[in-house]
Amino acid sequence: MFTSRTFRRSLMPLGVALLVAACGGDAPKEAPPAEAPKADAPVTSEASSPSYPAGFITASDLTLGPIDEGMVTEAKKIFDAKCHVCHGLTEEKVVGPGWKGVINERKPEWIMNMMLHTQWMVENDPEAQALVEETKTVMPDQELTREQARAMLELIRSL
Ligand code: HEC
Repeated sequence: MFTSRTFRRSLMPLGVALLVAACGGDAPKEAPPAEAPKADAPVTSEASSPSYPAGFITASDLTLGPIDEGMVTEAKKIFDAKCHVCHGLTEEKVVGPGWKGVINERKPEWIMNMMLHTQWMVENDPEAQALVEETKTVMPDQELTREQARAMLELIRSL
């Protein structure tokens, strides 16, 4: 059985082209069904990043060193309070995707922007749009501060 994660990965390059479509109204849905991908390569292509609006997180905003356990502890509290209804710490989907493995497939700045600017992402980012199609749910705005989102990223990195 293919996992939802591999399904999504294969949609990614295509989504960039679709982004050209108008952003108002319904999200573009032209993505054709994807074959199960064979490559297990990490996603590194710069071309798959949309250009984010001012104030969004970019790669240069993030310094990723060894896992910061303090942040992970903080993030687990937030997870228990606000995220666990829809997310798990394994690969299993709940309402939204399980978080284990996400760090290997998404850029850290993408993960941060998904948490901080969910609405913009689901309207403009092809990877986020593919997730909405797959989950049939739009993640509600979680109203995290930047520091909280950074801590969540650390938790996701630690899985
Ligand atoms: C009501 C359910 C719900 C809650 C609560 C929720 N999420 Fe989500 N989340 C989703 C869904 C659904 C998606 C997939 C994107 C979409 O469809 O909007 C998602 C996607 C994500 C992603 C991207 C995952 C991936 O595979 O790329 C991250 C990161 C994330 N959520 C973080 C959080 C954090 C942090 C919290 C808690 C502060 C949270 N979410 C709370 C439903 C939820």
